[in-house]
Amino acid sequence: MCGIFAYLNYLTPKSRLEVLDLLVTGLKRLEYRGYDSTGVAIDSPDSKNIVMVKRMGKVKVLEDAIQEHFTGGEYSEPVATHIGIAHTRWATHGEPCERNSHPQRSDEGNGFVVVHNGIITNYNDVKTFLRKRGYEFESETDTEVFAKLVHHLWKTHPTYSFRELVEQAILQLEGAFAVAVKSKHFPGECVAARRSSPLLVGIKTKTRLATDHIPILYGKDDKKQTSDQVLPRSDSTSEFMPLEEKEVEYFFASDASAVIEHTNRVIYLEDDDVAAVRDGTLSIHRLKKSLDDPHAREITTLKMEIQQIMKGNYDYFMQKEIFEQPDSVVNTMRGRVRFDGNAIVLGGIKDYIPEIKRCRRLMLIGCGTSYHSAVATRQLLEELTELPVMVELASDFLDRNTPIFRDDVCFFISQSGETADTLMALRYCKQRGALIMGITNTVGSSICRESHCGVHINAGPEIGVASTKAYTSQFISLVMFALVMSEDRLSLQQRRLEILQALSNLADQIRKVLKLDSKVQELAKDLYQHKSLLIMGRGYNFATCLEGALKVKELTYMHSEGIMAGELKHGPLALVDDSMPVLMIVLRDPVYVKCMNALQQVTSRKGCPIIICEEGDEETKAFSSRSLEIPRTVDCLQGILTVIPMQLLSYHIAVLRGCDVDCPRNLAKSVTVE
Ligand code: F6R
Repeated sequence: MCGIFAYLNYLTPKSRLEVLDLLVTGLKRLEYRGYDSTGVAIDSPDSKNIVMVKRMGKVKVLEDAIQEHFTGGEYSEPVATHIGIAHTRWATHGEPCERNSHPQRSDEGNGFVVVHNGIITNYNDVKTFLRKRGYEFESETDTEVFAKLVHHLWKTHPTYSFRELVEQAILQLEGAFAVAVKSKHFPGECVAARRSSPLLVGIKTKTRLATDHIPILYGKDDKKQTSDQVLPRSDSTSEFMPLEEKEVEYFFASDASAVIEHTNRVIYLEDDDVAAVRDGTLSIHRLKKSLDDPHAREITTLKMEIQQIMKGNYDYFMQKEIFEQPDSVVNTMRGRVRFDGNAIVLGGIKDYIPEIKRCRRLMLIGCGTSYHSAVATRQLLEELTELPVMVELASDFLDRNTPIFRDDVCFFISQSGETADTLMALRYCKQRGALIMGITNTVGSSICRESHCGVHINAGPEIGVASTKAYTSQFISLVMFALVMSEDRLSLQQRRLEILQALSNLADQIRKVLKLDSKVQELAKDLYQHKSLLIMGRGYNFATCLEGALKVKELTYMHSEGIMAGELKHGPLALVDDSMPVLMIVLRDPVYVKCMNALQQVTSRKGCPIIICEEGDEETKAFSSRSLEIPRTVDCLQGILTVIPMQLLSYHIAVLRGCDVDCPRNLAKSVTVE
């Protein structure tokens, strides 16, 4: 949650207005992470002070405020070296308002200003400690304690470097956070750090960088402690050279989409990394040395293209992402599925397949839409692996202290790769010796890095807060895994061929489903003023019901429920009458007869459902005046084709209801808090 963006230009002159423009563009790219309030901090024209502008609401409001605020000609003067920090917030501590927006400051003189993502869990203790030393707090945020703690350390330890001050502050703090700090006492310097919340550093130079690695520096103990200081001071000792460039620009961001238009060279920071820039030199320090630490952080080259993070001709990112699915599903299979030889290779897990085949059970763990992809593929995984498959919501899994064994294989499914509950569940299973497999869309994410092996779903950046193309790509990744696991099972070859054949037709079939768009829009017109929508199905399509209902809820704020059709007579049937909107999925698969029973139960209570059925299935269609026909495919892939009308439906209802499709209220895309 929350987006951090900071920009440092060293010997690359930029006016403050240009810097502000860069900061605002960075925030726009990160807006999906939170959009309650925003803020920026830059140097004052005489470079002696820090000026902040903060606003409640979305980045556009801040942009307008900046235009009003920075009118003087002095803001157009180029400055050789400067650091600006910016933030878009998803409120956790304190209501969304200017006072609680970031940057948060250390004192009235803006000595230290901080942007922060995550939660400082012991902030109350630190607040008490600081109050006793005369600090007064102006916000309800946990972030403010960080700014004031750095200030306190600066006053008590005047010889400390900026980086040391931030390190010392971090050592006192508990929780999950990423921070970027600017100070008027350390002009031209920036310090950023992370623990459990994502942060990366983008590097832009005129010429190619001389190195692909930034060495890691470690602190060492120092006996000169004062009573105020809980933990020892660290001093960096280095046998390596940090990154030194004459003219260089650095970008600190919560994710790569904010830096890709400037540079494709990035370093993903790890937990407890502190990145500091001083005199244009970037160095990375670690608070504690551990045996398995590498000696350096790699500078990676992003594969992302700038067009991938632009809306193009679409009105919303979500709409674009729905329509990208014919391509994104192909990208998930690219280089992995050989349709001519009926072979599948998943490079990221191939060395682990023998171990996986010996396991006791498969556990599929995720949240929200990612969890639904596990529900959607569970039956096929059971069939093709012949192993018990458990599907778990990460939060509930943790609440139950679920027993985990060394011979379990645990999948962590996450578009962002940063979801706190999923990440916590991963660490829980890893500690207990299970094999950890990540299924993520974000290269370099925490889940990616902390997994033993994994499948990258390659759906491309997903920016709309509601997940769409990531779902279909997660689905396919799990299907591919099931196919790999059954490669040498003679009795399953016919079934595998049938699925492979269906996978090869999938992109064209998705294109066909997308042509239903205008029909779905008409249905949305019938539905958008209702209070509720029930979505029913069973078997391979139950996951579509859950996912469809989630999309409707989050985008339209309408009540919606995904109902297992087999459960209808155990309660939900009581909701059905001639005015309750119902959508039913009735396809020609092994549960067709049971679905037809459910359909009859609904129509005999005067329900008038919209039916999703197979192309040309006149018998099923005859039960309703409103239907959507989708192409026929193998049973286990139906869920990919049936979910697309649900994505379109929720999108159109949201537009008709005047909702902000890409930024639904109260939500953010990357949920990095528990
Ligand atoms: C729904 C949605 C959320 C996410 C959930 C998990 O449209 O986007 O339910 O699926 O927050 O996020 P990831 O997949 O990033 O772990």
